[in-house]
Amino acid sequence: MDNFTAYNPVTLHFGKNILSTLGATLKEYGNRVLLVYGKGSIRKSGLYDRILEDLVKQGFTVSEYGGIKSNPVIEDVDAAAAIGREHQVDVILAVGGGSVIDSSKIISVAIPVNNPGWDFFTGKATAKSAVPVVAVLTLAATGTEMNPFAVVSNHALGQKSAYGSPLTFPKHSFLDPGLTFSVPHNYTAYGVADLIAHCFEAWFGIGETTLTDRFVISIIKEAMEYGPKLLGDLQNYEYREKIMFAATMALNGTTMYGRSTGDWGVHSAGHCLSLLYDVPHGASLTIVYPAWMRHFKNRIGDRIAQLGSQLFDEPLSADESINRIESFFKSLDCPTRLSDMNIPGDHREPLFDAMVHSKVSGGNVKMKEDDYAALIRLYL
Ligand code: NZQ
Ligand code: ZN
Repeated sequence: MDNFTAYNPVTLHFGKNILSTLGATLKEYGNRVLLVYGKGSIRKSGLYDRILEDLVKQGFTVSEYGGIKSNPVIEDVDAAAAIGREHQVDVILAVGGGSVIDSSKIISVAIPVNNPGWDFFTGKATAKSAVPVVAVLTLAATGTEMNPFAVVSNHALGQKSAYGSPLTFPKHSFLDPGLTFSVPHNYTAYGVADLIAHCFEAWFGIGETTLTDRFVISIIKEAMEYGPKLLGDLQNYEYREKIMFAATMALNGTTMYGRSTGDWGVHSAGHCLSLLYDVPHGASLTIVYPAWMRHFKNRIGDRIAQLGSQLFDEPLSADESINRIESFFKSLDCPTRLSDMNIPGDHREPLFDAMVHSKVSGGNVKMKEDDYAALIRLYL
């Protein structure tokens, strides 16, 4: 095992009607709330009205920033931080999926300083304090509800990058699986794929840790069992609950105990697809992962075969494992080639340039420019 430090300060509230204590939790931080949300799903579902009425009834002063886009952009972060500063908010209430919660984390550290949010990604600004973030999760996928990471795009610079500090954990996260009933079939599937990909990134990282490997396999098996069931019955609370819990556990530190790093090369290659073509995050991973395993099977074939054999409970070669994993992604109706996303144009050159510009590589499996070209060929 490699040395590791376990730290996770998030208070997680999980279950049916868990929002009943939201007001009391927010009160711990003060009276002035900045409500941050996305393009409209919470208005459509009625969650926006429900929360706002509740907060107003409890005497909170609420300012808001709506319109955070999926694959969030730094311009929205800066605009929301300006509103937060103007209203001197005590707490940020982030209601949405990964895009809203990630944006809120950067808003929270940007408000106390006068730097643009992107300065945290470049190292120009360091987080010294943060407005507390309380999250209400509406989509099971990223694990952001119980980790410090925030992933934001800067199209002017051609980058989709991650930032995290001990100050960017949410203080509290509220997870009511019922709030994910309205997530459509495609984003539900992308969420299942994303949580599996988070486990893969840990699996292909550095550090031999048998117990943590068992955690990883268990989380993936849970997703492989209940993901397809959920896709056949989107209003099933029990399945929503299982996938929501699995997604949180896949990226809250549990899969990293005893490892010095995960790999994350596939995530950074996937971010190039999202940056250039706005491919949903989970879909970018089902496109890149099979290609990445095929390309690197000469380097990590044993580990791929071990993964496949444990997931499918029979001895499998690396090739057989990759084929089975790819078929599983297809069975979720997730894309496994960029062409499945029907994006017109010739993507070879822009993708290659984006990978060079983003210096795409893995923490364990290092990539160079020859690898980029080969990978792109495999997933176009
Ligand atoms: O914008 P709204 O209207 O809310 O609609 C969203 C969006 O269109 C919709 N949605 C969310 N909850 C819903 C719902 N629709 C109906 N009912 C609900 N209850 O779903 C769409 C996708 O939302 P988004 O927040 O973008 O999805 P996700 O949670 O997958 O987040 C993706 C972002 O998180 C980053 C990704 O790169 C991407 O930018 N990641 C964050 C990580 C982290 N912080 O740890 C790790 C991940 O690997 C990932 O990189
Ligand atoms: Zn991910």
